[in-house]
Parts: sequence; C-alpha cells; structure tokens
Amino acid sequence: MKPNFLSTLFSSILAKIKGAFWKLCYQHLAKSYQREDWKFMNYGYAPLEGNPEMMPLEPADAQERYCIQLYRHVAGDVDLAGLEVLEIGSGRGGGADYVARYLKPKTTIGVDFAKDAVEFCNRNYRVDGLSFKVGNAEALPFADDRFDAVINVESSHCYPSVAAFLGQVKRVLREGGHFLFADMRSKADLTVLREQIRESGLALIRETEITPNVLRALKLDNERRIAMAKQMVRKSKLRNFLKFAGTEDTKFNKMLKNGEMVYVSCVLQKNNSGVSLHRSAEAQNTSFNLA
Ligand SMILES: C[S@@+](CC[C@H](N)C(=O)[O-])C[C@H]1O[C@@H](n2cnc3c(N)ncnc32)[C@H](O)[C@@H]1O
Repeated sequence: MKPNFLSTLFSSILAKIKGAFWKLCYQHLAKSYQREDWKFMNYGYAPLEGNPEMMPLEPADAQERYCIQLYRHVAGDVDLAGLEVLEIGSGRGGGADYVARYLKPKTTIGVDFAKDAVEFCNRNYRVDGLSFKVGNAEALPFADDRFDAVINVESSHCYPSVAAFLGQVKRVLREGGHFLFADMRSKADLTVLREQIRESGLALIRETEITPNVLRALKLDNERRIAMAKQMVRKSKLRNFLKFAGTEDTKFNKMLKNGEMVYVSCVLQKNNSGVSLHRSAEAQNTSFNLA
C-alpha cells in the first residue's frame, strides 16, 4: 500500500523528534562526562576466531581496544594513507584520533552535531592533521568533492533522514572516494537501509553482517564497561547507563543476540572510476597480524 500524505507527515515528524532526542542525549553526555579516558561510544568488534586482539595498540589505547577494532574493521578495506578523511558522528573523538595516528591520512576531520562533544575533542586531541567541527550529518558544512573517504560508525540510526545523509556523503566525496560505514538496525529497518543505499547512487562494494563480532566484543569488554559505568554514574542511573553501554543482559544486547537487531558494516564507493584504493584481505591481515 502506498503511504498517504498524513502517514508520511507523521513519520517525518516522528523522525525529527527522534533526531532532537538524540541531540539532547549526546549533548548531555558530552557536557556531563568530561573524563578524557572515555573516547568511544560504540559497541566494538572482535574477530570470531583466534586472538580477539586483532592488532597491536599503544598501551594508552588498549583499554578501549574493541571500540578501536570496530574502526579498524570499518576502515581496513581502504588504504587511507595520505588521503583527506571525514568522520561523521565522531562523538568523543577516539575513532578519528585512531584513524589519524594509526592509518596516517593527510587530514582527518571529525564532525558531530553535539557542540560539547566537538569542544571536548578539540581540547583533548593534539594530533597533526586532526580537527573537529560542529555539523549535522544531513547538512554537512563542506564543499562538494572535498574528501577521499567518509567514515560513519554507529551514528546513522539517530538521523531523521538517512537518505539526506547519504546524499551529503555522496556530495562531499571525490570521484572514486569511499564511504566506510557500520551501524545497527532492526530487521525491518535493515531492509529500508539497503533500499536507501541502493537509491543513494553509491556503489556497494561489500556488506558484512558483524552482529556476532559485536557480541563477542561486548562480552569481552563487559567488565570494563560495568566498572566504568559504576565510576561515572550514581546507582539510580546505573541501569540506564548500562543499557546505553550494551552490557550483558541489557535490552540491546539481548536484541542483538535474538536477532531483532542486526549490526552491519559496508564499503561503498562514489562512481567507481577505476581508482581502486582497496586493500586485499591478505594485505590487511599481513599489515596488522598479531601473534
Ligand atoms: C553512538 S555515538 C558514536 C560515536 C563514535 N562514532 C564512536 O564510535 O565512538 C553516535 C554519535 O553520532 C552523533 N550524531 C547523531 N546524530 C547526528 C547528526 N544528525 N549529525 C551529526 N552527528 C550526529 C552523536 O552526537 C554521537 O556523538
């Protein structure tokens, strides 16, 4: 059945309310929790077999290893060295900082609509070529054809219009540039997301379901997440905070386990013009193999 005017209007109002809710939520988190050692807000990634620690990290980065590994998984298909990279939804900045220090692009810009998160990042990271800017995923403050790669990790589920967001990604990417994406959706919304990706005009190079990897990471990271939450919030707020952190036995964790929610990662490309920046799986493994 075709959606009528009223149902379309209703969904777009609901989507705007959802976007405003997330903005309040992330502004509040950035304003209230200034601790410098909390750099990530994603669920993480671990390989399913063998050593869950997929690459060596400097000791200071190791405590949020699984969150970093999600970035490593998302960005690992493309060699970002010397490129101009944008991250949309950069949060507390740990992902952009990892990309800048380990993957060596020429520049990395993190964009987030939570002003306090951007201020936190600009205060706490001092890395050549890395900066943060306030901006909305649906109206990016950048010229057309500005970036070689755009990264987006666990942020797009907050956006009122994913179609508008994908349009912006395509606009700011150069010909041949890559869009490196990961996020979760309900089963029904995954079908919608696939349709939105098809309609974006970006070429899908790969889609991988990584729910089991995310669950393994959450399990391995469970104690750290609980300990950190206990240090940060009062008892009365602990339950909600743990839900947000995705710890064992919370709603999202259960939904990932029972298949109601699915976590995917994708690599897309703007007008595949024969410029290939992909690394082979073999090259990825040899560069970062850990004994
Ligand atoms: C779950 S956090 C993930 C942050 C970061 N990518 C990470 O992995 O740690 C989602 C982030 O998306 C940001 N965000 C949500 N909606 C946005 C929008 N419309 N424009 C820009 N940023 C947005 C939030 O402020 C938040 O920092």
